[in-house]
Amino acid sequence: MTTTGSGSTYDPPADPDRGAAPAAASARAAAHGHGPPRTDRRVVLVTGASSGIGAATARRFAAGGWQLLLSGRDRRRLEETASGTSAVLLPADLAAPDGARLLAEAALRATGRIDVLVAGAGIGWAGPFLTMPHTDIDRVLFLDLNATLHLVREVLPAMVAAGRGRVVLVGSVAGAVGVREEAVYSAAKAGLAAFAEALRQELRGTGVGVSLVVPGPVETGFFARRGRPYHRTRPRPTSPGRVASAVWDAVSRARDDTYVPTWLTLPGRVRALSPHLYRRLLDRFG
Ligand SMILES: NC(=O)c1ccc[n+]([C@@H]2O[C@H](COP(=O)([O-])OP(=O)(O)OC[C@H]3O[C@@H](n4cnc5c(N)ncnc54)[C@H](OP(=O)(O)O)[C@@H]3O)[C@@H](O)[C@H]2O)c1
Repeated sequence: MTTTGSGSTYDPPADPDRGAAPAAASARAAAHGHGPPRTDRRVVLVTGASSGIGAATARRFAAGGWQLLLSGRDRRRLEETASGTSAVLLPADLAAPDGARLLAEAALRATGRIDVLVAGAGIGWAGPFLTMPHTDIDRVLFLDLNATLHLVREVLPAMVAAGRGRVVLVGSVAGAVGVREEAVYSAAKAGLAAFAEALRQELRGTGVGVSLVVPGPVETGFFARRGRPYHRTRPRPTSPGRVASAVWDAVSRARDDTYVPTWLTLPGRVRALSPHLYRRLLDRFG
């Protein structure tokens, strides 16, 4: 495992060894014979790799023999994800000004190329929109939408120059249908979905693809972090490993859109075909 800095402004205190300066950690890794990772393997940059879906996705790509570049804010949890791999850790706060640019630069410095970006970092907020503080509106939109777009903007030129690559965006079923009391989160994820569609068209012929993975509820720390547990009986939460398999499948088979589970395409289709029927079903089943 190698650790390198990327301008993180958030680096939780840890034990003295773990909390050492990134450059020092890099130097120590090299001194122990862990030089720069081999770059003949395919390289995936995963954001949100310190938890949940991103961590499971990182493990799936490691099992497939890929070189991992792992990002998140919490270095200790990034180390847990990276355990047993030659992953390069790139702790970064994507909500910081220039966070996306600094992360992309550090990633390209570390391995010289990125074959796949899995943009998994994200946060939620739940509650009536009328009570949502303005700062939280900005926080959710910035991390879930703006920072992701900026990161894609930073890594795409190298992919296009190489004539290959794939961007995987982690959306949400909330972005497909709009979920009440998750209005801003739904808007951010809907923005990602529209961005994926538009970018895919722009990139046609370049060898670079765009996948949108659209999970329903997933058993991760997401709900605890947003401060409100998942309380519905349907859809039942799925495992982060299942979403990771869908991401892997999207990359292996160059899939455009993948819903997890697949039946979750239905609500969006019903809504598109008959908004009136969709709302009546919502009134009845919630
Ligand atoms: N769980 C669900 O039900 C669900 C459903 C649909 C879509 N999704 C989407 O799936 C993605 C992953 O969510 P998850 O369920 O795996 O949640 P999670 O377990 O809470 O993981 C969120 C990840 O985002 C990272 N992150 C948060 N703020 C960040 C920041 N300012 N800078 C950089 N990284 C930051 C976290 O890093 P640190 O912990 O190190 O800060 C963590 O690695 C999100 O985009 C989420 O919207 C989740």
